[in-house]
Amino acid sequence: MEATRNTLRRIGAIAAVGFAAASLLLPDGDALAQQGKVKIGLMLPYTGTYAALGTAITNGFKLAIDENGGKLGGRDIEYFTVDDESDPAKAPDNANKLIKRDQVDVLVGTVHSGVALAMSKVARDNNTLLIIPNAGADEITGPLCAANVFRTSFSNSQMGIAMGKVMAEQKKKTAVTLTWKYAAGDESVGGFKESFEAGGGKVIKELSLPFPQVEFQSYLTEIAALKPDVVYVFFAGGGAVKFVKDYAAAGLNKTIPLVGAGFLTDGTLEAQGEAAQGLLTTLHYGDGLNNPKNNAFRAAYMKAFKSEPDVYAVQGYDAAQLLIVGVNAVKGDMGKRAELVAAMGAAKLDSPRGSLALNRGHNPIHDIYLRKVEGKENKVIGIAVKNLTDPPRGCKL
Ligand code: BEZ
Repeated sequence: MEATRNTLRRIGAIAAVGFAAASLLLPDGDALAQQGKVKIGLMLPYTGTYAALGTAITNGFKLAIDENGGKLGGRDIEYFTVDDESDPAKAPDNANKLIKRDQVDVLVGTVHSGVALAMSKVARDNNTLLIIPNAGADEITGPLCAANVFRTSFSNSQMGIAMGKVMAEQKKKTAVTLTWKYAAGDESVGGFKESFEAGGGKVIKELSLPFPQVEFQSYLTEIAALKPDVVYVFFAGGGAVKFVKDYAAAGLNKTIPLVGAGFLTDGTLEAQGEAAQGLLTTLHYGDGLNNPKNNAFRAAYMKAFKSEPDVYAVQGYDAAQLLIVGVNAVKGDMGKRAELVAAMGAAKLDSPRGSLALNRGHNPIHDIYLRKVEGKENKVIGIAVKNLTDPPRGCKL
């Protein structure tokens, strides 16, 4: 009996050695199969005020992967999905689950800046590749920048900087700002204030309420009393729908122009209807951008998901495009991290938004468009700032 066991053990050992030796000689395709699937962790909001944003990002991401034959660097893909609920307190646990339990090769997320700040810390601590397809927290590609952290969306101050410049050029003298009180809103409003005041305007009051509250009435009353030349806001998702409707219901859209970061009217026009007509916003995307990539992207998205894409879908699509560049450069070998991130950092993407490159901190350099709501479209009426980069202040890369 013992002799049989020893013989079996020896056969097992010989087979293992033979298998290992053979795998060194495997041609590319077989070697890739040996590495198994590329595991992608999608950590996004699928409930709450940002739920639609998480879904659009997921759709856009999967569309680009499907257009790449459903593979990455020749390898099949397995998705792991977590609903982060836009809750920063749950973010470390959620990110750790994907990294430690599911052993993902890459984390993709998220929408909310507070959640993304926590995710990026976990990604840095574990040296996990992270691609951010929305959350704009300036710090992530500034002082907290890292070789393994990339963003395909924007930084929060970019949209405010662009709109502050446009409003100053339109000779508006006074502004009131209103936002949810967290990194995204603070930085968006900060960008607006910086360029509006540099252009000769004055922000006379900065109003805010906790995320994701939508009781706007007292703020609207205060705005009516202050009578600024313009109101700049940061809201997105379900909160943006409610704010635009409340602003119109209070009659303020007839007396005080409302402008905002483009999230105010992106993916929301169906629900906002008449209340959104004529609103000016700044964003790195516009529905009707007439370039071949955007036309093809919009048609493919509509065919796949039976709905119009928005900026979030574009950012998810570009997150996958960026990953494809990196994984192709290492022919599917995710262990070649230095080569992979070098290729991602140097990527020039053909994005539906136009051309997209990354700065030293891995944040997009892109045109910021001025858009006007016409019917169900955010119509591009100009370029507010060409090739806007965000100086990666404090980034040591
Ligand atoms: C953010 O939290 O960074 C964010 C959320 C929604 C839209 C834009 C930015």
